[in-house]
Amino acid sequence: TLWSWLCRVASSPPPWPVEMWPPLGETHRPSICPPSPNFFSLTSSNPKIEYYSRFSPSPLSIKQFLDFGRDNACEKTSFMFLRKELPVRLANTMREVNLLPDKLLSQPSVKLVQKWYMQSFVELLDYENRKPEDPHTLNDFLELLIEIRNRHNDVVPTMAQGVIEYKEKFGFDPFISSNVQYFLDRFYTNRISFRMLINQHTLLFGNDTNPAHPKHIGSIDPNCNVAEVVNGNVCLVFMLLFFAVKAPKRPIQVVYVPSHLFHMLFELFKNSMRATVELHENSKEGLPPVKTKVTLGKEDLSIKISDRGGGVPLRKIDRLFNYMYSTAPTPSLEPGAVPLAGFGYGLPISRLYARYFQGDLKLYSMEGVGTDAVIYLKALSSESFERLPVFNKSAWRHYKTSPEADDWSNPSKEPRDASKSKYKANR
Ligand SMILES: Nc1ncnc2c1ncn2[C@@H]1O[C@H](COP(=O)(O)OP(=O)(O)OP(=O)(O)O)[C@@H](O)[C@H]1O
Ligand SMILES: [Mg+2]
Repeated sequence: TLWSWLCRVASSPPPWPVEMWPPLGETHRPSICPPSPNFFSLTSSNPKIEYYSRFSPSPLSIKQFLDFGRDNACEKTSFMFLRKELPVRLANTMREVNLLPDKLLSQPSVKLVQKWYMQSFVELLDYENRKPEDPHTLNDFLELLIEIRNRHNDVVPTMAQGVIEYKEKFGFDPFISSNVQYFLDRFYTNRISFRMLINQHTLLFGNDTNPAHPKHIGSIDPNCNVAEVVNGNVCLVFMLLFFAVKAPKRPIQVVYVPSHLFHMLFELFKNSMRATVELHENSKEGLPPVKTKVTLGKEDLSIKISDRGGGVPLRKIDRLFNYMYSTAPTPSLEPGAVPLAGFGYGLPISRLYARYFQGDLKLYSMEGVGTDAVIYLKALSSESFERLPVFNKSAWRHYKTSPEADDWSNPSKEPRDASKSKYKANR
């Protein structure tokens, strides 16, 4: 079918800098091996995790990333910042992992992820007292960061695997699902931020700078032309004939991380195309175009992607962002396979990318007609501060509070038969 052909085309690498593809670095399914014997010694309540988790992460704005990278960036300063900030961000999220329900924590994939986090945390602690003046320190640290980034490449599909394992064994539970939703949104945001910090350091101070983009500051493009990312990159990936992208007279630019923007647009186009193809494949009029509109206001840069793929009923919209509800079939576990329709994580992860720098992603749908997906980004880089999860008492409470009775009427329940009630009417 046309759809499966598009899938094949879209799963081949795009004309995009290699370090940005695939957007999450998932080139293959993880192999799930049992934890190594030293795993348990590593996890046994490490006081350093407790210590570092007491600090809140320090959010940076895109402007701060940019200013630091532009003005003769100092590797020593970056090292001094990261050797504390990275363990703080890791420890904050590791404390939260431990609050997941035991049944989920005991799944092999979740244990594997915990092992990766612990190993990276311990390796970073080696630098607590190392002197930056020592000729090897800065180089060793840079190599460690690359190693850690690679180790964490498969965190998203491995965690997703853990959720699938749990669901297969224990079924769907709304309380667990809301905890998992809360947790994964925070955990994946933490991961996005962790990779952002690592990428800035390795791109600025390592040898892997991208000659194709000499003006980029690390992974940030100071003049990211939105229409160009849509036209030049996303459309090329899909080799689309049925896109309608009108370039504005004056290019709309934003200071942003092009790989993040690419990820969001790629996922939204993929969804729109799929809906369009599935609804209109056999129609005589052909496929209606997927349209894109980009606008720049004082506060927001908004990108709207509109399709006529039949839309989604209102009742289901929230569900599309739910990790446990995902309707996608379990992806193929063949090594080397790049799943196009994967875990049903396209929307939730794209929304996290948008929210990471204080933007958002929303779906407006009209059942029977089509869907508008809108990405909101902050227009000003001085306002695009990282939005980071903090481990504290109110986070803790989220996991520990049991669900309360619904305070709105529930239409699916049978009306109560008053005659059978043990409380009499004249009570
Ligand atoms: N534009 C759209 N029109 C109609 N339905 C949509 C649209 N976008 C998303 N959906 C519905 O929302 C579901 C979830 O989308 P999402 O991108 O999160 O996951 P997926 O596309 O199923 O899998 P993945 O993106 O991981 O490959 C889709 O399966 C589809 O049913
Ligand atoms: Mg999708």
